Amino acid sequence: MPGGIDPHTHLAMEALRTESIDDFFSGQAAALAGGTTMHIDFVIPVNGSLSAGFKAYERKAKNSCMDYGFHMTITKWDEVVAEEMEIMVKEKGINSFKFFMAYKGILMVNDELLLEGFKRCKSLGALAMVHAENGDAVFEGQKRMIELGITGPEGHALSRPPVLEGEATSRAIRLASFVNVPLYVVHLMSIDAMEEIAKARKSGQRVIGEPVVSGLILDDSGLWAPDFVTAAKYVMSPPIRASGHNKALQAALSSGVLQLVGTDHCAFTSTQKSFGIDDFRKIPNGVNAIHFLILLMMEKQWMHLVWHTMVESGKISPTNYVRLTSTECARIFNIYPRKGATLAGSDADIIILDPNSSFEITTRSHHSRLDTNVFEGMKGKGKVEVTIAGGRIVWENDQLKVVPGSGKYIEMPPFSYLFDGIEKADAKYLSSLHAPVKRFNSAT
Ligand code: URP
Ligand code: ZN
Ligand code: ZN
Repeated sequence: MPGGIDPHTHLAMEALRTESIDDFFSGQAAALAGGTTMHIDFVIPVNGSLSAGFKAYERKAKNSCMDYGFHMTITKWDEVVAEEMEIMVKEKGINSFKFFMAYKGILMVNDELLLEGFKRCKSLGALAMVHAENGDAVFEGQKRMIELGITGPEGHALSRPPVLEGEATSRAIRLASFVNVPLYVVHLMSIDAMEEIAKARKSGQRVIGEPVVSGLILDDSGLWAPDFVTAAKYVMSPPIRASGHNKALQAALSSGVLQLVGTDHCAFTSTQKSFGIDDFRKIPNGVNAIHFLILLMMEKQWMHLVWHTMVESGKISPTNYVRLTSTECARIFNIYPRKGATLAGSDADIIILDPNSSFEITTRSHHSRLDTNVFEGMKGKGKVEVTIAGGRIVWENDQLKVVPGSGKYIEMPPFSYLFDGIEKADAKYLSSLHAPVKRFNSAT
C-alpha cells in the first residue's frame, strides 16, 4: 500500500528553552522504519516573522531522508503577517496555517486574530488549523492546581479538562462557519471535541478532525505513575484523556466522523522533561509516536474489527484503511495523487506490511533518539517489512538504509477540494442580503 503520510509532527521544535530531541533526520528515520514516507511539520515563526521562520526550518530540514512539507503557525497579526501569508502560499508551497487557542502568553491568539486569520486563509485558499483549548481557562486551571499543591504531571491533565477542549473546538467551528472557511482541528483528544466535529459535519460544514495515535491508543493512567520520569513522558496538550475517550475516537474514525490520523510526534528526553520536576507547567509538552502511524493503527483489535465487519461485508472498500493513514491526508493537503496512491505517475512511496508477523515495542526498537517510549511493552501483529521511499528501498530486513539529504520538500498548492463550492455559497448569502425590504414610513 502507499506509505503513511503523517500530517502532524514537531521535529527539532523549540519549546521552553529547549528543542525536541528528534530532528529532521532521526525522526524521519524512525518514521520510515514504521512505514511512513512523508510528514508535514509545523514551522514556528521567529519573532512573529513567517519568512524568518520558514528560513530556519529550511535549514533544520536540509539533512532530510524522507519527503516533508510544512504548515505555518500564526502567532501575531499585522499587515506584514497578512502579506507574508500570501508569500507562503504563492511562493513557498504552504497551504495551511495553525492558530493556537492555548499556550497563553507564548503562542495563543485571541478571537479577533482568529477571525482575521480565517478571512485571510479563505482568500488564499489555505486551510485554517486550530489547537483547540481555551487558553485563558487553562491558565486559570493551572493556578488552581498549584494553589491546591498539585504540582506533579497529573496536575497537567487536571488543569485542562475535556470541557476546555470542547469549548474551544465549538468556538473555532462556529467562527469558521461565520466566515465560511474550511477548518481543520488538530490533535483531537476528547469526546467533547469529537462531538462538536460530528455535529458540524452533520450540518454540512467543512470541518476535519485529526485524532493522534497517543489519543487513540492510550489513556491518562500513566500521568498518575508514582515515578516522575514515567508520568512526565505522557505530558502533552491537549492531555491524554481518561479511558473511554480513546474508544470513542476510534469509533468516530471507523464511522467516518474523523477521516485521518496523525502522530503529533514531539519528543523530549527524561532530562528535558525533568525541567518540570517541581512544577508541571515547566514540563515540555509532547509525546513520541512518529514510528507508529501505520503499526499501531494496524495492531489494534479495532482496526481488524473494521476490516472484518466493514470490508468483508462490503460496507467499505479495502482501500479505506489506506485512506485513513495516507490518501485522505494527501487529498486534504492537495498533493493527491502524487502522494497517497500507488498509481502510474505517483511518487514511488510504497510499503509492504505483513499482517501475520508480530512485534513488541521497546524503547530500543523505535529508532528515535528518545530514551523513553509511551508505547513501551505493547505487542501486536502487523509489521512493516519493506519501505520504499521515492523508489528506493530504505527499510528491509530490519535495516535502515537512509541517506541524509535525499528527502524532498513537497510544495502543497492552495484550494484543495475542501474549497469546492465555497464561492457559490458566499454568492448566495450575499444575494440574500440584497433582497429588497418593502418598508413604509408610518410617521407620515
Ligand atoms: O503537546 C503537544 N501537542 N506538543 C506539541 C505542540 C502542539 O501543541 O501541537
Ligand atoms: Zn497543538
Ligand atoms: Zn502538535
